[in-house]
Amino acid sequence: MMNQRQRYARNDDDRVKQSGRPPTGQRVCFSFLVNAGQPQPAGDCRAKGCELWDYDGKTYLDFSSQLVNVNLGYQHPRVLAAMKEQLETLVTIAPATANLARGEAAKRIIGLAPEGFSKVFFTNAGADANENAIRMARMYTGRDKVLSAYRSYHGNTGSAIAATGDWRRVPNEYSRGHVHFFNPYLYRSEFNATSEQEECRRALAHLRRMIECEGPSSIAAILLESIPVRRAFWCRRKAI
Ligand SMILES: Cc1ncc(COP(=O)(O)O)c(C=O)c1O
Repeated sequence: MMNQRQRYARNDDDRVKQSGRPPTGQRVCFSFLVNAGQPQPAGDCRAKGCELWDYDGKTYLDFSSQLVNVNLGYQHPRVLAAMKEQLETLVTIAPATANLARGEAAKRIIGLAPEGFSKVFFTNAGADANENAIRMARMYTGRDKVLSAYRSYHGNTGSAIAATGDWRRVPNEYSRGHVHFFNPYLYRSEFNATSEQEECRRALAHLRRMIECEGPSSIAAILLESIPVRRAFWCRRKAI
């Protein structure tokens, strides 16, 4: 009996033969397949709003907005129009080169940021952003330690994966100075709490003790997901 992974691989091969579409299951190395347990069914799919259709036309309601990165919905016409316009103007620009679109994006981000922020450093992705944030905190403070939560994911690069709390970190701990703490999560409370308030109070007391024990003057940064990964589907989407 074939498992789901093998079925997708076989289906991919059949489809390649029939349609000339690119294969996924057999030749593509999927990130975090060990954690996910199976290739994503989305392969060559289509999507609109919060719905995805796979190869076979099966519909999925996407509560997690992929990796929480298409929060405005798939194929939003205003997003597509802006992307098309930029693609027709200029497809890429080197990091050190001034560019109007990047300048405008920086201006708008600073407009939304708390007081005191005056510059934006654009990175390629989330892991890259966290990697640079950790480096900046260490350079600025002259300290080493970075605290982060066990229930967290911060990316797949050197420091970002070491800062990550979940098990993907364990075979990849080559970056030094990372310390983890338990964040509040009433559903599987580490603090024997019975209410959200109690869970938060006890989690904060645990974090305070950790900071005292680690030595506050050795800590460069605390890295926190404002919305811990995979829980974003609890939030309501806002239309643009
Ligand atoms: C909370 C969080 N931080 C960081 C990352 C890493 O982002 P990227 O995959 O863009 O490097 C992710 C990606 O899933 C994430 O969910």
